[in-house]
Amino acid sequence: MKVIIVKDQNEGGKEALKLYENEMQNGAKVFGLATGSTPITTYEELVASDLDFSDCVSVNLDEYVGLTPDNDQSYHYFMNEHLFKYKKFKHSYVPDGTNMDAAAETARYDKIIEKNPIDLQLLGLGRNGHIGFNEPGTPFDSTTHKIKLTQSTIDANSRFFNREEDVPKEAYSMGIGSIMTAKHILLEAYGDKKAEAIQKMVQGPVTTDVPASVLQNHPNVTVIIDEAAAALLD
Ligand code: F6R
Repeated sequence: MKVIIVKDQNEGGKEALKLYENEMQNGAKVFGLATGSTPITTYEELVASDLDFSDCVSVNLDEYVGLTPDNDQSYHYFMNEHLFKYKKFKHSYVPDGTNMDAAAETARYDKIIEKNPIDLQLLGLGRNGHIGFNEPGTPFDSTTHKIKLTQSTIDANSRFFNREEDVPKEAYSMGIGSIMTAKHILLEAYGDKKAEAIQKMVQGPVTTDVPASVLQNHPNVTVIIDEAAAALLD
């Protein structure tokens, strides 16, 4: 695991851009993407760059079940706002939150990943060590699956919705096994709230209690973190 410590999230975005440039020079064409606050500066850098993704494919990590792409709380909407409306990909895949047939949707998404082996997978990190929606306890060999959101996530999300019943209770997520098939993984994390998870991910035992610790088993991982997130590393 190569750990790069930067001053702040803006520097992190610039560092990530260098990695994308390098990967594309080396022929990378399939990019696994994440949502959340962490990758925002990376997307800003990609948008401001002259990188051309028109011959590339993107594959997103996860999506809420029940939300349409035009719902402003959906991950599809987030990707449109932060990247896709500025940079066009040949194909951009996001799990279809409107497909209520979980078996069909997860099988469809696994086929997409199989047909488009991921060259560079971007990840954020949950405070509890989750990657994608793979919470502690998720098997390391998991493929795309449907997960039930924890009550605390549902409660936190409820402020964005007018009606309680509209708050998503489930999500589709790439599995840990799917993530591990990527040739190169870039994980970013910023702020002191991520410090404990970073310490466990980089220096702790490899255990399903800390999903991101599985990355110690991957041969090509780059971690970009700021000083606050690096504070507990030896
Ligand atoms: C998002 C995702 C999540 C986030 C993680 C960190 O697609 O899969 O694992 O990366 O929850 O979220 P932020 O970046 O908001 O701190």
